[in-house]
Amino acid sequence: MYINIGLNNLDYRYDVYQMFNIFYTFEEIKFNENDKLTFDVNISEDYLKISEDGKEYTYEINKEKNFKEELKKGIFIYLTDKLKDFYPWGTLVGIRPSKIALKLLNEGKSEEEVIKYFDDKYKASKEKAELCMEVARRENQYVNRDEKNIAIYVGMPFCPTRCTYCSFAANPIGAFKNAVEDYLDALDKEIEAIKKYVKEKSLTIETVYFGGGTPTAVNNEQFERVMNHIHSSFVKDNNIKEFTVECGRPDSITEEKLLSMKRYGVSRISINPQTMNDEVLLSIGRGHLSQDVIDKFNLARKLEFDNINMDIIIGLPNEGVDSVKKTVEEIKKLNPDSLTVHGMSIKRSSKLHENLVLKKTVKIAKQDELNQMYEMSKTLAKDLNMNPYYMYRQKNMVGNMENVGFSREGKECLYNMQMIEDSQTIIALGADAVSKVVYLNENKNRIERFANVKDVKGYIDRIDEMIERKMALLDTLYSL
Ligand SMILES: C[S@@+](CC[C@H](N)C(=O)[O-])C[C@H]1O[C@@H](n2cnc3c(N)ncnc32)[C@H](O)[C@@H]1O
Ligand code: SF4
Repeated sequence: MYINIGLNNLDYRYDVYQMFNIFYTFEEIKFNENDKLTFDVNISEDYLKISEDGKEYTYEINKEKNFKEELKKGIFIYLTDKLKDFYPWGTLVGIRPSKIALKLLNEGKSEEEVIKYFDDKYKASKEKAELCMEVARRENQYVNRDEKNIAIYVGMPFCPTRCTYCSFAANPIGAFKNAVEDYLDALDKEIEAIKKYVKEKSLTIETVYFGGGTPTAVNNEQFERVMNHIHSSFVKDNNIKEFTVECGRPDSITEEKLLSMKRYGVSRISINPQTMNDEVLLSIGRGHLSQDVIDKFNLARKLEFDNINMDIIIGLPNEGVDSVKKTVEEIKKLNPDSLTVHGMSIKRSSKLHENLVLKKTVKIAKQDELNQMYEMSKTLAKDLNMNPYYMYRQKNMVGNMENVGFSREGKECLYNMQMIEDSQTIIALGADAVSKVVYLNENKNRIERFANVKDVKGYIDRIDEMIERKMALLDTLYSL
């Protein structure tokens, strides 16, 4: 079954779809199908009418306000009242709501005025307006203003196992063991070419981020090899501000790999639980237990890593408030330096999409529970003395929520902020790595992207072509 919406003016199809999609995220929404209508939406200059089962709702459009925003608000109020679910972002579906807050603050609006604006225009809650303002203020202190400052991203497209919710380049290492050496050879080629380019153009590397997949999915020797090359090419003698390795999976971390990271000047690492509930960990295919998180975290602390991040996900399948309570308690004891809270996003290419949307074999918590779980993560961050410092939203997130990075003062991830704010060129190496050229001077705000091939074999086979095309794109900014 699907939601069949009758709509008299298809110019507003997307706006109407967006609002219904907040409330019916995992259902198919169609328009004007030759079938019984679930809702009949009628739009005119003066009003919006929604009929359902013979009952009619009318919302009068305020003509002094933006028509589309009014329309969305009318639908949002109707569905909130009908379903009694509370969606604190209101009608806001954009990726970076903090930009709206920043603009208003820069125009001289007071905090109260921003909160009122969020409510009036979007029906967004006071808490979300405050979150936007806090993130906007903090991010604004760090945002890059020099075109020649860049970030380097290196991707490792392997993982110990593939998690059911994931859509990243994450090939299970067991099945790909034979491809690793060839992959590292291709990556070496890319590293050499970019090292030369950065030098020739006198670019300043501010941060290096080694992510994936899972950088530590390979064996100790392979990891040492790639770390050595990254260090000698981008870190050594470059006076960079930050070098992150997103180890992520505790089952991929060894003492030898941590020592390699120490040797090559890594300043920040991630050890990600997602949840501290073993049953949930097993059901999402992570292949490690909560005790592994504790052990590897303690090992990293023993080796004097003083900036450790942890990622968690709110809205994991079959996870409720009690399970998140346990996660919160365990993380509090470990006391990391930053915490990234992701809202579960249901990616079409993931196993979870199949299980949740098509087969319906797993369940996600209801909206009021999701709201509670988010509140718990916020309280955890507060108890750990952390502030929100970057935020973004994605499509198809359960509960229509957000991803937020919290950190202690001075432990923020600079790379994440520049990346989310689109304020810095990122040269990205490895399979599925997406480079981004940000033109700050001419054509303010123009951004061009170049994605490396996602598939490992394709990446290895086409490495020369990718290097060439990436340089050609970079030249549009740096050859001037
Ligand atoms: C690209 S992953 C890499 C980290 C590492 N491989 C790991 O899993 O620990 C970065 C983070 O994105 C989050 N993530 C990945 N897929 C997600 C999804 N579908 N919905 C929400 N968060 C997701 C997880 O919290 C994960 O730690
Ligand atoms: S370990 Fe991380 S990157 Fe790999 S499959 Fe799981 S979430 Fe995706």
